Amino acid sequence: MAWLRKLLRPASAPARTMRLDSGHARQVAILHHQGGFARGWEPAECAALIADAAVVTDGVFSGRGGEPVGFVMSRKAADEAEILSIVVAPSHRSDGLGAVLLAAHLARLAEEGVAHVFLEVEEGNESAERLYRHFDFREVGRRKGYYPKADGSRATAIAMRLDLA
Ligand SMILES: CC(C)(COP(=O)(O)OP(=O)(O)OC[C@H]1O[C@@H](n2cnc3c(N)ncnc32)[C@H](O)[C@@H]1OP(=O)(O)O)[C@@H](O)C(=O)NCCC(=O)NCCS
Repeated sequence: MAWLRKLLRPASAPARTMRLDSGHARQVAILHHQGGFARGWEPAECAALIADAAVVTDGVFSGRGGEPVGFVMSRKAADEAEILSIVVAPSHRSDGLGAVLLAAHLARLAEEGVAHVFLEVEEGNESAERLYRHFDFREVGRRKGYYPKADGSRATAIAMRLDLA
């Protein structure tokens, strides 16, 4: 229903991005929960991750409120980074915010010396896969049974890589 959301919000305020601090931990935990992942992140866990010097957390703001409506978090090691999670609030999806957020995040990682970015995406998560492929992430492997599902089954992970340098 992306068209309906666009109709109801015809003059989308420009999106802003910024690096998040541990004051955003509660909102990050809420957003992560909205991502529908099998294991949720508690606010304290989010605060610890955000405060970790090796972790880069960016948020996207819709321009209306003071709370981020999406976040992305990566852990750096040498010249590599792994995207740990990216979520946009359900009411703001398919509106380009994920792309704005990921573009800002990749630019920040590059500024910080990251040359290679890795991630895993669940097979069948078409929106996320399209977003990553749009940014030239390439599939580098598949891990069967990687993701535990709520119904007890396990889903395949697609491993992807992007070279920034
Ligand atoms: C994945 C997720 C973060 C994407 O956020 P989003 O704000 O909806 O992303 P965008 O609107 O920027 O991009 C999504 C769509 O636009 C497309 N798109 C984005 N920028 C584009 C561009 N410049 N040109 C063409 N297509 C583009 C994407 O391919 C995608 O297609 P869709 O509308 O069919 O979904 C969001 O769906 C989400 O939070 N999902 C739940 C959590 C999740 O699965 N996270 C990923 C775990 S690996």
